[in-house]
Amino acid sequence: MTKIITSQKDITAIPQKYCKLVITEDSPSWHRLVECEDGTLEYRIGAGKWKTMTARKFITFVRTIIQAAKSHQIEHLAIQAPVAMLPAILKEHDSQWILSTLAENLTIGAYEFTKYKSTKSKKKTLQDVVVCGGLTTAEKKAFARGVTVGQAVNTARDIANTTAEDMTPTDLGKAALKAVSDTNVTVKVLNEKELQKLKMGLLLAVGAGTAHETKLIIMEYWGAGKPTSTDKTKTKQPIVFIGKGITYDTGGLNVKPTGHMHDMHMDMSGGSSVIGAVSAAAKLGLKKNIIGIIPAAENAVSDRAMRAGDIITAMNGKTVEVLHTDAEGRMVLADALTYSERYNPKVILDVATLTGAALSALGQHASAVMTKNESLETQLRALGEESGDYVWPLPIWDEYQAYIKSTRADLSNIATNFSRFGGAIEGGVFLSNFAPKKVPWAHIDMAPRMEAIASDKLAKGSTGEPVRLLVKFAESY
Ligand code: BES
Ligand code: MN
Ligand code: ZN
Repeated sequence: MTKIITSQKDITAIPQKYCKLVITEDSPSWHRLVECEDGTLEYRIGAGKWKTMTARKFITFVRTIIQAAKSHQIEHLAIQAPVAMLPAILKEHDSQWILSTLAENLTIGAYEFTKYKSTKSKKKTLQDVVVCGGLTTAEKKAFARGVTVGQAVNTARDIANTTAEDMTPTDLGKAALKAVSDTNVTVKVLNEKELQKLKMGLLLAVGAGTAHETKLIIMEYWGAGKPTSTDKTKTKQPIVFIGKGITYDTGGLNVKPTGHMHDMHMDMSGGSSVIGAVSAAAKLGLKKNIIGIIPAAENAVSDRAMRAGDIITAMNGKTVEVLHTDAEGRMVLADALTYSERYNPKVILDVATLTGAALSALGQHASAVMTKNESLETQLRALGEESGDYVWPLPIWDEYQAYIKSTRADLSNIATNFSRFGGAIEGGVFLSNFAPKKVPWAHIDMAPRMEAIASDKLAKGSTGEPVRLLVKFAESY
């Protein structure tokens, strides 16, 4: 693992073994590795004209530094803190944002997933990146925050990149426990017997076709102190994050076609991002109460699997006709939303790889956000820009409810006419029937951001989104 650290020394005073990074105003594709007269290495890389630098460009630029260092097999890299060179960014963000974002993106840029490689690469690996220059106490703190958040993103990626056989619902519970092992977060994992007692019919139905037991994973972080049963203190009302934890999605009896199934071990990416976010919140010592709820199940094919046409009673008493066994995410989330009510939440965000339709709507650059709460939408969009986990709104107007009004039951899990139009919205609208009334709630369909694309300048596989957004949200809501 690459160490990402700071030094009070100026870059000119750093030991010889370090390759010094020099950021120039050349075009972003320009770079040179130079051997200096004193035998030290200098890596010069263009970032474009300072005045044209934006927050978005800065985020990917930091990652390209790491990619370049890796491709040149540089083992030790020194960077001068780039605070003064970014006047354009400083108009919108302070130096703490720059240091935190730098640390975050160095950390997630350095990530690699090698768990299943039988031979270790012979390439020299990047051992440490040291950010030099006299940082203020606040800047150093911001940098440390960035490393913590970046590591939480990487934890989420490790979990999502793991194969379904090694990341069953039980394993996901263990991964949650491991992620918070050095914090005061408590983790409860409910088994099928307990879920039956709670009448979580939708969650159990989705997990009925597999030998791997269905679980409900609950993470509690009481950073503001646990409220007593009579406590009406608003600041103690928890923020609830719900994450879809489908450890493998075959589609069920409506089985997925070739090319659409192999990456469905990542269908717990919402869940892994919640694990990452809760652990980061605890490690940062946020004075907030945060609850993570992850309904975890495998959507498998077997004679015991739920059938298309089955009618299931949800935890909140509503009946759901399963018109499509591949629309399982909304089912498990529905019961988790009902379950969240017992925490008297201040706000609820659910995060899920819910629909391919969200990719059709937005491509792969942003997650879709759906909420009826305008200020929540505005806030999430702004925090998306700040964090780099971009979100873009879709409507969940009442007009869409008609799509999922079932003839035989209260609701159907997909449009009764089998239309694929507005598929992402349909998912959000379904969930709105289960979100606790009067609690601000937003649904984030992160299917578009499940896997990294080339322009992300990240390792292939899971992006670990939207951990950074959730942490920002926990810090500021
Ligand atoms: N997990 C999938 C959605 C998905 C697709 C996530 C691609 C990431 C990448 C989800 O459970 C699903 O199968 N959704 C269906 C819904 C449909 C049956 C209404 C879909 O998108 O096709
Ligand atoms: Mn599915
Ligand atoms: Zn799914």
